[in-house]
Amino acid sequence: MQPETLAVHAGERRPGPEGSVVFPIYQGTVYSVEPGTDYHDIKYHRLSSTPSQAYLHDKLAALEGGAAAVATASGLAAATTALLSVMRAGDHLLAGDVLYGGTHDFLTHHAEQLGWTYDFVDPSRPETWEAARTPATKVFLVESITNPLMRVGRLREVADFAREHGIVSVIDNTFATPINLQPLSLGFDLVFHSATKYLNGHSDLVAGCVVGSAPRIDAVRHTLNHFGGSLDPHAGYLLARGLKTLALRVRAQNSNALALAELLAAHPKAAEVHYPGLPDHPDHARAASLLSGFGGMLSFRPTGGAVAAAALVDAVRLPYPAPSLGGVESLITRPAVTSHAGMSREDRERIGVTDDLVRLSVGIENKDDLVADLTQALEKL
Ligand SMILES: Cc1ncc(COP(=O)(O)O)c(C=O)c1O
Repeated sequence: MQPETLAVHAGERRPGPEGSVVFPIYQGTVYSVEPGTDYHDIKYHRLSSTPSQAYLHDKLAALEGGAAAVATASGLAAATTALLSVMRAGDHLLAGDVLYGGTHDFLTHHAEQLGWTYDFVDPSRPETWEAARTPATKVFLVESITNPLMRVGRLREVADFAREHGIVSVIDNTFATPINLQPLSLGFDLVFHSATKYLNGHSDLVAGCVVGSAPRIDAVRHTLNHFGGSLDPHAGYLLARGLKTLALRVRAQNSNALALAELLAAHPKAAEVHYPGLPDHPDHARAASLLSGFGGMLSFRPTGGAVAAAALVDAVRLPYPAPSLGGVESLITRPAVTSHAGMSREDRERIGVTDDLVRLSVGIENKDDLVADLTQALEKL
């Protein structure tokens, strides 16, 4: 079945409890135990084993094309739990050199305490992978589309390289979403998301998920049980509801973002536009072969430097000036002063986050309205 159908029907119980078409929220934390029930079969919310969690897991797994999934209390809980389920003290990790700041901070602040070592490598340059690999390398971690320059690495080759060397490949698929890319089909072992973003799509909850084979997700779930990051029932309900429109939202966002990227690319007030759907993006050919849509995120530098960038953020009327991404409403931000403000200037500039960079998370508003709004804002510069 196609993603639109899976989003609506996958995981649904038919008939639903009491005949309900919509799977209800079971706010209860614990369920009655039949005599002889094994500890691992107890239904308790922190163990991610309740019926409403199983329902959500089935929907998430179907959308990513995986055998199993587990929902987590945040995207970062998904990232850390996925890694903790595989890595042991003494293991080494290869990580893409442009990671979401929280994932980067987890490694730089906690790897040593866990006895892990790591090296950052360029996901577009396989020679850097082999140079950094050690006999202890256990995980190769990348992102499907990186923030904020929207680079798309050699993802198929990452999965192949990992398999060839007995390394577990892990990918953060938050930016691409399963509508534009299903990394398990490229050979990745574990996919995780900040479901706070596109999967939920309404900027009203924090959640995450990990998807993969049944044995790998069993290991993730056991790790989650120990670290305590299960997803609250009400947030789980909202996430399942948001997922039903995922395909529609993401296709609208792909199309709106491409229109805005094309507007910017042709506009004299925009110096540099980063969107993998544009033919002059350095990864365009690879993105076109891997992705079925180029996503809803883009970044650019207005001519006129940081002052012009700040003025532009003030001048748009539709996008909210806010970090985060993936909601139905457009958001605009200068990563140097919001999402990446915690990094040193040197580290920021190494990954392309200069003070004049503006990032847009494009929503599902009418395309012409978005184009008209950005045009009037550019004309004010
Ligand atoms: C690519 C990516 N991964 C992970 C996360 C972490 O997600 P959360 O804020 O849900 O913990 C984020 C948050 O911005 C993100 O952008």
